[in-house]
This record gives sequence, C-alpha cells and structure tokens, in this order.
Amino acid sequence: MDVNKIRADFPVFRKEPGLAYLDSAAMALKPDCVINALNDYYCNLGVNVHRGVYRLSYEATDKYEQARTTIAKFLNCDFEEVVFTRGSSSALNLVAQSYGMTFLKPGDEVITSELEHHSSHMPWFNVCEKKGATLKYVPLDEENRITVENFKKVLTPKTKVVALTYVSNVMGYITPIKEIIKLAHEVGAIVTVDGAQSVPHMKTDVKDLDCDFISFSGHKLCGPTGIGVLYGKRALLEKMPPVEFGGDMADTVLLDSQTYKAAPYKFETGTPIIAGAIGLAAACEYIESIGFDNIIKHEHDLKEKAIAELKKIPGVIIYNPTGETGTIAFNLDGVHPHDAASVFDNNDVCIRAGHHCAQLITKKLGTIGTVRASFYFYNTEADIDKFIKAVKEAKDFFGQF
Ligand SMILES: Cc1ncc(COP(=O)(O)O)c(C=O)c1O
Repeated sequence: MDVNKIRADFPVFRKEPGLAYLDSAAMALKPDCVINALNDYYCNLGVNVHRGVYRLSYEATDKYEQARTTIAKFLNCDFEEVVFTRGSSSALNLVAQSYGMTFLKPGDEVITSELEHHSSHMPWFNVCEKKGATLKYVPLDEENRITVENFKKVLTPKTKVVALTYVSNVMGYITPIKEIIKLAHEVGAIVTVDGAQSVPHMKTDVKDLDCDFISFSGHKLCGPTGIGVLYGKRALLEKMPPVEFGGDMADTVLLDSQTYKAAPYKFETGTPIIAGAIGLAAACEYIESIGFDNIIKHEHDLKEKAIAELKKIPGVIIYNPTGETGTIAFNLDGVHPHDAASVFDNNDVCIRAGHHCAQLITKKLGTIGTVRASFYFYNTEADIDKFIKAVKEAKDFFGQF
C-alpha cells in the first residue's frame, strides 16, 4: 500500500501536506472520488428520486438504488436489507424504536455493555424503561474488554436483545461478536451490532457474522456526513413497523386506514438522502480498492509504533496498550485532556479529547476524559513522529510529570 499515493487522493492533504490527522474515529477525511460523486449528482441531476416522471428523475433514482446495490455487495447482503439512515445513531435508534418497542415485554432482558457509545446503549435504556424490560451489562474483564466468558454470565433464557459494539470507539478493542451472536441465537435473542468503528476498518460479511442488525456511518468511512446504513435481516425488517411516517414510505393512504411500502422503503421517510447514498457508495468502492487487509495491518503497525514511543515517556497513561485496532486512549498524568489536546493542535496534530460519547467506559477508567489518537490508512510514520513530538512538548509545557 503506497500511502503517499493514497494521500494524493485527499484534497485536505494537497492543501496541508504536513497535517497529522489522527481523529478518524470521529470522522474520516474525504477523497476526490466521493466529492466528485456528490458534485456529479448536484451538478448533473439535483432532482428527486422515485416520484418524478422525467428522465433526470429516472437517472437520479437509478443512481440512488445503484448505491444500495453497491452497499449490499459491500456487506454481502440483499438489496432489500439495506436501509439508508442519517448515520449510526439513527440506525441504532430505529432498531430500538421499532423492534424493541414492538417485541419487548416486561421481564425480558436486554444485554449491552459499558464499552458502548451512547448511541448504542441509550436507545435500549429508554426502551427497557418504557417496556419494563431489564437492561444488563456484560462485566468487562481486567483490560475492560467484552469477553465471551463474561457474556455467558449475563445471558439467560430471558435475553431477547443483545446490543453491542463490534469495535469500541474509546479502546479500539474488537468484540468477539461472532461467538456472542451464536450464543445469543441459541437462547432466541437477536443481536444488533454497532459497526460504526468496525465497518470502516474490517471486512464486514453479515452472512458470515449472522448478525441480525449492523449499523454504520458514512462519514467514518470517507463518505459524506448525514448518511448511514442499517443492515437488517429481511425477515426481521419485514415484521418491524416503521417509526417515522409520511412521504414516500406510504403505500395506500385512506381516511380510515394506511399501509406502508415493504422494507427498506417503509423506513426511509420523506425525500431520501440521495447525494449521501451516492457519495457513500463511492466511498465503499474506494475503501475496497485499498483493501481491508492493508488497512487493518497499516493501522496496527502505526499503533504499535506509537505505543512503543509513548511507553518511553514517563507520565503517559495508556489505557489500551493491547488494543488491536488503530486507536490509542491515553492521558498525560495530571493534565486535563482538553489542555493536552490544545498543544497537539499547535503542532498540526488533530486529536480528540473528552468522553467520546462513551461516559460509561470513561467513568470506569476513573477519569473525566481521555485523549484519543485514531489512525486510518492515510496516516504515515511521519504523523506518529509529530504526534510523539507533541506529547513531549505537552510534557514540557505543563511540566507536571
Ligand atoms: C462506536 C460508535 N457508535 C455510534 C456512533 C454514532 O455515530 P454517528 O454520530 O455518525 O451517528 C459513533 C460515533 O462516534 C461511534 O464511534
């Protein structure tokens, strides 16, 4: 993989060649092909889909639905199993609001974890409260990982839903989700997987995983903002009611009754996210052209190099030294994470500080927040050197450790 060649695909790096962008867990940068796909739709079409009875609308419809086909291929699922949403959060909420509110009963159990992003566990907290179900948390192990062994401790015949992240956005740990799915299915529970941090980095084959739902956001995969995907098994999507009403999702509307289109359309209310879907398809094709094996190896190598260097600096607390993916959670002893982050900014190193919308794990780590550096395939060893230089500068600047 030629990273310098790859960086040439990104307008941001052409403008700022020295930028060390280490915040891809929050949002990935956008390559030309995605921007061109968006431009092409807005410049050459720019019209609505499905309803127009003219050539431009047919063309826009074709592109929009072609994007669904591309994503179905990307995930190894059927066309009808791809629901376009605004992002991971709205996809995860859709499952809770539709499946959870319809099928959960008092006394049922839902399993989640303290490693979740708020968008993964909060929708289930809400549904459990409303439906009288019990929310249970997988006990994390000593490294704060979800393990199969600990999952078994909370799984019971009452478990109806398992809502877990595939890759933690704070710790970068990979959940043994395939084994967990198998165990959950043995007690008749469904599994909704938060793939926001896994789908951009690892090959996702929903048939192989056998997950019931998996969701992800376009913007973390070099795609546009405002678009995401919910994959759902067709049989489940078919029996789930819509949660938003109006626009194109309607089939027949009468004074005393209304019916809805089949999945996925019953879940896509109003004018769809047309440009977003087209841009996302371009992003998926781009990522596949780079290759997931290359991506995960590159991120892992960068992370190992960064961890080795960080370990040499006294006073750096690393929370996930054994993490498999390209995310490092750390703090500088005695320095507020936001103060530390400002020193990185002065060095053209973009990183993130705070609770990363994951307050449960932040609290469990015994801190108010962490500094997070997250790598993607366009990062270089030079980025790591800049990052380490900034850590050392922060150390000198705050002079506390
Ligand atoms: C693991 C995880 N889940 C869900 C989300 C929510 O994604 P979005 O803000 O795109 O809805 C994020 C975003 O950071 C995330 O990292």
